Amino acid sequence: MAAVIDGKKISTELKDELKEKVAKLKEKGVEISLAVVQVGNDPASTVYVGNKKKACAYVGINSLSYELPESTSEEELLSLVQKLNHDPVVNGILVQLPLPNHIDENKIIQAISPAKDVDGFHPQSVGALSIGQKGFVSCTPAGIIELLKRSGITIEGKECVIVGRSNIVGKPMAMLMLRENATVTICHSRTKDLKEVTRRADILIVAIGKTKFITKDYVKEGAVIIDVGMNRDENNKLCGDVHYDDVFPKVSAITPVPGGVGPMTIAMLMNNCVQSVL
Ligand code: GUN
Repeated sequence: MAAVIDGKKISTELKDELKEKVAKLKEKGVEISLAVVQVGNDPASTVYVGNKKKACAYVGINSLSYELPESTSEEELLSLVQKLNHDPVVNGILVQLPLPNHIDENKIIQAISPAKDVDGFHPQSVGALSIGQKGFVSCTPAGIIELLKRSGITIEGKECVIVGRSNIVGKPMAMLMLRENATVTICHSRTKDLKEVTRRADILIVAIGKTKFITKDYVKEGAVIIDVGMNRDENNKLCGDVHYDDVFPKVSAITPVPGGVGPMTIAMLMNNCVQSVL
């Protein structure tokens, strides 16, 4: 019988711990502020940004809202980022992605001061993670490590297979699992015989954006399954990249969608904001 890894519960525990830390900092006169920038009004981004602001309020972090029109130019956004970089009140800067097509995302990410890069997307943050130096870590992979640890799952020495090689999830996930002494394999769309590779995994992490792609033939008996996907099925119901009902009888632990990895991403963003003043 598989254990369901309850990301909602674990993220609330983490946010409650952070809330206490933030209150103690406040007593010492230290306030934390996160600038949240959204360009345009993509409905999914509006939901994510709203959830991030809600989490800030819960933990006691000030969120400073910048809602810019779709027509905002790259220069205007760059100058806002520069202003926030130099504003001593602002501890963290979050520019919600995706940005409109006429804005170069990489340029914007690189403009954010690494000291305020609470998303962990700046090349300096990514480089620091790769060579084991201090820096902000991308929130979703950091949240997955926290989920595994708080669920009592040993990482050291395990075969970890990651499906997906994005800059936000797959690549930093591999670096973090390596830091935790797992043996790491990254698979992607050009991997030959994907099933043969994923069936080796003690811990299988899937972030490919394909609805219910991973079925029971892809998993080893007793594996731990982490599903980063967030898709809609044929009935418009939220679901992951893993076929949950199909793999459930075969695995030892699994994250549900929703309520698995998603809430941890936001909790780790709050964690990074707290880290920014320590
Ligand atoms: N869009 C989807 N996920 C994220 C995230 O973690 N951070 C930002 N800035 N944008 C996103």
